[in-house]
Amino acid sequence: MELTWVEISREALTSNIKTFRRLVGSAVKLGVAVKANAYGHGLTLSSRIFLKAGADYLCVNAIYEAETLRKAGVKAPLLIIGYTPLSDLPKVVQLKCELVVYNVETIRALGKLSKPVKVHLKIETGNHRQGVRLSQIPAVLTEFKKYKNLQMGGISTHFANIEDRVHHHYALHQLKEFKKAIRILEEAGHAPHYRHCANSAAAIVLPEAHFNFVRVGIGAYGLWPSEKTLKAAQHAGINIKLKPALTWKTIVAQIKEVDKGALVGYGCTYQMPHTGRIAVLPVGYYDGYVRLLSNKGHVLIHGKKAPVIGRVCMNMIMVDVSRIPEAQLEDEVILIGKQGKEEVTAEEMAELSQTINYEVTTRINERIPRIFIS
Ligand SMILES: Cc1ncc(COP(=O)(O)O)c(C=O)c1O
Repeated sequence: MELTWVEISREALTSNIKTFRRLVGSAVKLGVAVKANAYGHGLTLSSRIFLKAGADYLCVNAIYEAETLRKAGVKAPLLIIGYTPLSDLPKVVQLKCELVVYNVETIRALGKLSKPVKVHLKIETGNHRQGVRLSQIPAVLTEFKKYKNLQMGGISTHFANIEDRVHHHYALHQLKEFKKAIRILEEAGHAPHYRHCANSAAAIVLPEAHFNFVRVGIGAYGLWPSEKTLKAAQHAGINIKLKPALTWKTIVAQIKEVDKGALVGYGCTYQMPHTGRIAVLPVGYYDGYVRLLSNKGHVLIHGKKAPVIGRVCMNMIMVDVSRIPEAQLEDEVILIGKQGKEEVTAEEMAELSQTINYEVTTRINERIPRIFIS
């Protein structure tokens, strides 16, 4: 028996893809970001479900993820959106992947391989992460033109703050820069096949950013990019239902009586205000249950909330079950998800631990089994 496991709803993943397909229409390629172990949902099985539900492309961060998918027999187009070291470029070709490029060194190294490969030029439009500046495009094209094996598969950019705003002035500025970059390529005779910049938030609230390809991540897993994106969507009359696919479970590993005044856990940061019962749960920060939830988080047992008391340990947490007398050894516990009428959401957990829902699900240790349920 596992001490902790993650259940993933196939139905929810499928439904989310269909929702995005309806949003973007059939003419737009639907790329799904499956990097970071499919945002913690399990790379291979999530990918298969997305493809079956109608996704066209899978976007991975790194070559090792592409390798895992190809070894699992996934034949769909793969786009590597992170950095690929020059020494790994032969593998990109061997695994039949496409990749984003944003420096002449990568273009030169790919060119010298003399094998056909599709590159997606990444443009710096204001995120100041990956990407070539508009002024650098001519120099990049000069290098690109030297190699007949290179194809301009696409042009892309990434929004800096679309999910942080209800109004999208900065995203619209980025979009303008992106359109200028497309024009530069077209005028140079290298019209890119795909033009893509939309993440989940843009796919939902900024239809003009769809072009002919979108790259959705968080929304495919049924989570909203942010409260602000939800508000912006409601404001624009876009009524879509995203279904969270992930439930994180564990079991009760010990129940014990504790006296009023007893100090709980490392650092003695919690003192029992009453005589009661605590449950010890076999998950901790190693598993991805972040330490910032010490004395803040809560879990569900028998459909009732049990507060985390004391510090989150490496492999264990303690919760107060004084108000759940029916709790006993090996009872199922919900860390994220629903039980009865109660729910612990990734968003609540994110707020309590000063982060975002993206980090909450991606940090669930990859070693923990993902069980796909129908
Ligand atoms: C380049 C790129 N495209 C698309 C996405 C998907 O974004 P989201 O999960 O907000 O939909 C990400 C995620 O961080 C990304 O880095």
